[in-house]
Amino acid sequence: MKTEYIVEMTHITKTFPGVRALDDVSFNLKSGEVLALLGENGAGKSTLMKVLSGVYTRDGGEITAFGNKVEKMTPKRAKELGIAIIHQELNLCSHLSVAENIFLGQEIVKGGVVQRKQMNDEARAILKRLSLEIEPETLVGSLSVSKQQMIEIAKALLHKARVLIMDEPTSALTAKEINELFRIIRQLRDEGCGIVYISHRLEELQHIVDRVTIMRDGQYITSMDFKDTTLDTIISYMVGRDIKEKFPRIQMPVGETIFEVRNLNAGRMVRDVSFKARAGEIVGIAGLMGAGRTETTRAIFGADPKESGEILVDGKTVKIHGPHDAIRAGVVLAPEDRKKDGLCTKLSVRDNIALPNLDLLAPGALGVVRSLKEAQMVEAATKDFQIKMPNAEVDAASLSGGNQQKVVVSKWLARNSRVVIFDEPTRGIDVAAKVEIYNIMNRLKKEGIAVIFVSSEMPEILGMSDRIIVMCDGRITGEMDIREATQEKIMHYATQFENKLAQ
Ligand SMILES: Nc1ncnc2c1ncn2[C@@H]1O[C@H](COP(=O)(O)OP(=O)(O)OP(=O)(O)O)[C@@H](O)[C@H]1O
Ligand SMILES: [Mg+2]
Repeated sequence: MKTEYIVEMTHITKTFPGVRALDDVSFNLKSGEVLALLGENGAGKSTLMKVLSGVYTRDGGEITAFGNKVEKMTPKRAKELGIAIIHQELNLCSHLSVAENIFLGQEIVKGGVVQRKQMNDEARAILKRLSLEIEPETLVGSLSVSKQQMIEIAKALLHKARVLIMDEPTSALTAKEINELFRIIRQLRDEGCGIVYISHRLEELQHIVDRVTIMRDGQYITSMDFKDTTLDTIISYMVGRDIKEKFPRIQMPVGETIFEVRNLNAGRMVRDVSFKARAGEIVGIAGLMGAGRTETTRAIFGADPKESGEILVDGKTVKIHGPHDAIRAGVVLAPEDRKKDGLCTKLSVRDNIALPNLDLLAPGALGVVRSLKEAQMVEAATKDFQIKMPNAEVDAASLSGGNQQKVVVSKWLARNSRVVIFDEPTRGIDVAAKVEIYNIMNRLKKEGIAVIFVSSEMPEILGMSDRIIVMCDGRITGEMDIREATQEKIMHYATQFENKLAQ
């Protein structure tokens, strides 16, 4: 009997120590469709797709692929079947070239010699098929995240993928790059590939998705055709309740200037940056990917060296030569790249939260950690953010992507800072948890702390900021009060130099 599904999963279960990640889950996929797999952080989306691609072995349930039961799914078997997965955290080797990455593990070898030219040529052909202007010899580490994403797709095409799973592919992409990705997804779909698309950016689904499957707490909830439903319906299935206010803005009288950056220069991407943040306001920093926003936050925080410029906290100049100085001066940064800068995945959640706060937890010369205080700090942080985990002793690596992000943000809020800089804090975070993060920004704002908020997502920048600064090509190109801010205005400033170049 021929079924219309190319993949069917039934009664799938998977348990990790202390967590039932998948509880009797069913899932299916047709060829030539884009299926969105949706659910809150920790719902089990990544785990289900890792089971399908053989990364994890299921505890129970059945998988049928292309009409055949697959008893033992392994990465190798999945590859043979044409099931490819692009993980939430990219998995490329940055010190290898594009072609070497595409062919990793299946290099073309003749007579014991790796056929570089042939590999480069074939890689070039695949890149061309995707209309990507990337040279196969380029080192992957020098490419932007978006281009690296495309390389992962190219790699999947080499394996002649008939099922392509993308776990949050757009969380680090700009609007333009997302369009490019969508073009490729549509092309693959039209060629008959079945595509599983995981995302927390619900607004983008309308451009690409045919059908949605929703999970909650490790269980299958429902599936429906996208055209027959609404985002509000989807959200209520995901969260199990309605979310009334997506952007809970609060009004506060604006106070004195708490934080000031004067003529900051640091490399090519931070040129003469000056701005102020006052008590009771959230300053949004908008711009396109690569505008220099992350570089600016890193230079302020002392993570990267400054060439010149002045930083003032409460009207006093502070010398920041490294993160240590910044933290002492009351300036903290929740960074963009959680895997690289934000989180020690091999340490427990508890250590991740406690480590940057050791000065508070272990005051005095002996450096003895006050464990009660530590426990309270960790408890408060995990509660405030509703971090989903069996307990705080588990490795940070075992948390779902969104929950890792919550740890990164939460650890800085355990201390009394004057200035909190958030760089893309809601990346990969589900719709309900985003509201939690906005509420925390509001709480800081109420406490009179300067909140600086870098985001590429126009709705949240417009929804939460009181004042918006726009950057383009390492410079501040515009500044506006929220009352006069529009998407068009922001885009105008964000593309200022690009427009000039194009003319
Ligand atoms: N390797 C692991 N070891 C222990 N627990 C794990 C492991 N992988 C996932 N989990 C747990 O399984 C549950 C489901 O996680 P999963 O990563 O599938 O969620 P998700 O839906 O992808 O969430 P997100 O949107 O945050 O990425 C979580 O509670 C997570 O902590
Ligand atoms: Mg995930």
